Amino acid sequence: MAEQKPSILFVCLGNICRSPLADGALRHQAAQRGLGWTIDSAGTGGWHSGDPPDRRAIAVAAAAGVDIAGLRARQVREADFHRFDLILAMDHDNLAALHRIAPARPGAEIRLALDLVEGRAGQAVADPYYGDARGFDRTWADAQAIASGVLRHFGVAD
Ligand code: 4NP
Repeated sequence: MAEQKPSILFVCLGNICRSPLADGALRHQAAQRGLGWTIDSAGTGGWHSGDPPDRRAIAVAAAAGVDIAGLRARQVREADFHRFDLILAMDHDNLAALHRIAPARPGAEIRLALDLVEGRAGQAVADPYYGDARGFDRTWADAQAIASGVLRHFGVAD
């Protein structure tokens, strides 16, 4: 098991703001290190299925040289609990929703994303959807911290 490449799924509500940013941040950091990890994101809600990320999320990632424009929103499905090693919820509501829909014996470990960031355990990534661009700056900073935390969690120094 330890030699296998990890697979990580980030989950928020709409899969157009927070989880695509965490997905993009980790894909970028993993690619820079040549790690062939499986990284994806999904929403507990399905209203935005098929949509690209919010334009403000695309912009904040692009400003850091990370392209998330090609991502498309999708809803979490049962197979995700078997396909992924680690499912990281961006907030407590989505963590609770994941536990509600998880099969009896999920293969995946299900956790709050910020639990992997030193000093941020138990915290939620604030939902920037109804706020302004500054909210997306904060979300992007959280996404980068989470990506670094995931690398450390799997023993990769950043
Ligand atoms: P996300 O943000 O969960 O970070 O993608 C949201 C996106 C859409 C909605 C809520 C939150 N919505 O209500 O449509």
